[in-house]
Amino acid sequence: MTKKMWGGRFAGAAAASVEEYTQSESFDRALYHEDIAGSKAHALMLGEAGIITTAEAAELVRGLDLVLAEIESGAFVWKRELEDVHMNIERRLTELVGPVGGKLHTARSRNDQVALDFRLHVAARLEVWSAELARLVGVVCDRAEEHAATLLPGCTHLQPAQPVSLAQHLLAYAQMFRRDFERIQDCQKRVRVSPLGAAALAGTTHPIDPARVAQAVGFPATFANSMDAVSDRDFALEALFCGSVTMMHLSRLCEELILWANPNFGYVKLPDAFSTGSSIMPQKKNPDVCELMRGKTGRVYGALTSLLTLMKGLPLTYNRDMQEDKEPFFDADRTVSASVAIMADMLAAIEFVPAAMRAALGKGFLNATELADYLAAKGLPFREAHHATGAAVALAEQKGVGLEALSLIELRSFSPLIDQDVYAVLAFEAAVGRRNLAGGTGPASVAGQLAALRSWLKGIC
Ligand code: ARG
Repeated sequence: MTKKMWGGRFAGAAAASVEEYTQSESFDRALYHEDIAGSKAHALMLGEAGIITTAEAAELVRGLDLVLAEIESGAFVWKRELEDVHMNIERRLTELVGPVGGKLHTARSRNDQVALDFRLHVAARLEVWSAELARLVGVVCDRAEEHAATLLPGCTHLQPAQPVSLAQHLLAYAQMFRRDFERIQDCQKRVRVSPLGAAALAGTTHPIDPARVAQAVGFPATFANSMDAVSDRDFALEALFCGSVTMMHLSRLCEELILWANPNFGYVKLPDAFSTGSSIMPQKKNPDVCELMRGKTGRVYGALTSLLTLMKGLPLTYNRDMQEDKEPFFDADRTVSASVAIMADMLAAIEFVPAAMRAALGKGFLNATELADYLAAKGLPFREAHHATGAAVALAEQKGVGLEALSLIELRSFSPLIDQDVYAVLAFEAAVGRRNLAGGTGPASVAGQLAALRSWLKGIC
């Protein structure tokens, strides 16, 4: 039985079941990189502040680098009975450098140490999410640019509403993913705050320099209150919220792609690399990637809910409950980073079918608003124009044709204001082409949106 590093006052050992129950090494070893970076920064600061000698600090840093190399080569022996990543690393450090290893933990507690490790980890992962989101926005822009002239039915209530360009439809998602990126970057301001120096909860009597540690780990700010520093997990909650919103956006897009891949829509052909077949029905090509992404969204919401629930009853300051904060984040991170990356790859490869979209424009009287607006522009009160158009739709429906296939005589039976020029107005291209106000689906507006997104992308890369 390895003697516990905190075992001074203990006569008996923990039960094996308790040791297994309380350990976090099995999952928090994923934080080894951050733990060593934080420890090196702490050791340097201790040396510079004269709390240990600079030679001792250098020896600690050298030893920590050796430990890092051992972990990365696979030679490091992780010990479950040492509880967690922090104790595993410190124990090995002491084996390598001797008693000076015991000086590393001066003016520090695992409470501020784990908070720093977790913040470093979340901050690094958020940068990965951001980079993938930026790549996704780029892919969406490319596909939108290709399909500036492709029209399809825009829906409300999942019913055909008005014609839009595929570019406009896709760029709606580009806007969502851009906001996801920006939300994450804003969240980073609160993640990238160093808690080191808060010690167990009350700060320390040693003349430490928390700002120096923050600078060494690349964080721009330090904690303002030691009790808050060791007990705050808002930063992880915010990150999980950012991940949840991103997944929600991806899931909506997946839902559309699933519908569009159904032969009754036929708007997209899924690339073979992103779909699967059925073991019994030979004709099937299933949108499993989209379905799984929609399904995995629930895992990320679950992680957010877990952590909110974990924190809600905890008195200040650190409570061991908080050890349960990591696994939900790790799981959510795997899901978010893979999902954003896979969506970018899938969208780049997806085949849109403009002819099927075009054919769908013929169903659902998508140009009815054009006729109502045409009559309103000729002076008919909009409510009356709406009514007359509705009657024209009823006739067209009865005849099984579009409004544009009604004769001028038929159309004029609903309003004498209708003239030959109505046919140009009813054309779907014209309906889209007239909507060039900022944010609209008209080609000039879409080109403006694309240019703005491209220049934003340039600014962040
Ligand atoms: N494994 C612990 C965690 O993840 C590290 C901090 C332990 N602190 C303590 N006072 N027992 O939260």
